[in-house]
Amino acid sequence: MKMMCDVSENRLTHLKSLYPEVEGEMDYHHMLNGVGLDAVIIATSVKSHYPLAKASLLSGKHTFIEKPMAASSGECEELIEIARKQGLVLMVGHTFLYSPAVRKIKEIVQRGDIGEIRYICARRLNLGLFQKDINVAWDLAPHDISIILHIMDTEVATINCKGSAHITPGVEDVTAMWLNFSGNRSAIIHSSWLDPRKIREMTIVGSKQMIFYDDVSQLEKVRVFDVRVERPPHYDTFAEFNYAYHYGDVHVPYIQHEEPLKTECQHFLDCINRGTTPLTDGKQGLEVVRMLEASSQSLERAGASVNLTDRGSWQQLDAANTGTSPAHYNCRNRKEEGLRAMPVGSGD
Ligand SMILES: NC(=O)c1ccc[n+]([C@@H]2O[C@H](COP(=O)([O-])OP(=O)(O)OC[C@H]3O[C@@H](n4cnc5c(N)ncnc54)[C@H](O)[C@@H]3O)[C@@H](O)[C@H]2O)c1
Repeated sequence: MKMMCDVSENRLTHLKSLYPEVEGEMDYHHMLNGVGLDAVIIATSVKSHYPLAKASLLSGKHTFIEKPMAASSGECEELIEIARKQGLVLMVGHTFLYSPAVRKIKEIVQRGDIGEIRYICARRLNLGLFQKDINVAWDLAPHDISIILHIMDTEVATINCKGSAHITPGVEDVTAMWLNFSGNRSAIIHSSWLDPRKIREMTIVGSKQMIFYDDVSQLEKVRVFDVRVERPPHYDTFAEFNYAYHYGDVHVPYIQHEEPLKTECQHFLDCINRGTTPLTDGKQGLEVVRMLEASSQSLERAGASVNLTDRGSWQQLDAANTGTSPAHYNCRNRKEEGLRAMPVGSGD
């Protein structure tokens, strides 16, 4: 049994024209009850992820939620707990972890080819598509955050985020996020809906080599540069001090083309059939939402550092200081009353 659901009649008519063999439904709760579905994929606006996923899990369906998993970490935690109690697969659409290019980068980093990671710089820019209820960080940065956490394989210590809203008052359309990890390692994420070009780039700087990943490139998505710079360990006078630059080859690893969305969907089915945990499970989704919440909190404080090492306390401390609950920093923008109607869509 296959079924698709959309509250918009126009949208459902369009979907029916694409998939005439699949039944259409406008009432989500009717779709969940009594039609014999085993699993549900939720690809709606962010604020509806939680109620729809909760209903899906409570009706016994394995559930896939598009990124970001929900509008707050509290919602994510509740969904994880329901899935655990019900023994159901809960997966989040961090699609890029299923892309052959990111898998290749992970393999290169794990082999130790680039040495210790020093910093990562990510840029995800394009013109629009403007959202009304989330800022550009919540829209575009989940991809970069999930890739960076996957590559770094360690937790973020602090986050700083600055941004500006040029088109919709109160909804940042340009943000710059700074993630700090232990050991003087960091990552910078620049997200924008206000750029003339579609840019999907990431530079991973290691102590021995550097990787440049360009997801828009057809043939050379990943390039490994054998370049580095070192300080001489010993020198007697400042005049003797010279940086040692190394310029070597640029290597383009072969990457077999595969559609990440297809791989991701197959992984969801495999996890259901084998009873295994997805690579991008609820915990991964929660981790990304925590980063986004911290970025919203930092934005509120003009880029001040938000500590993530003691998760419980930064939220409590903030609630105590401002009189607001931690949920104040969820995806729904703080100046909702100032929003104007704009075309909705996603610029991924
Ligand atoms: N993983 C990726 O690469 C990727 C890419 C694009 C979008 N996304 C994510 O997918 C989700 C949807 O994005 P989009 O650009 O398709 O949004 P969209 O607004 O174009 O489409 C969402 C659809 O959901 C429908 N809808 C809303 N509430 C509903 C409900 N209660 N029941 C049934 N239908 C409902 C709307 O009518 C609309 O047709 C977002 O979470 C976005 O972040 C992920």
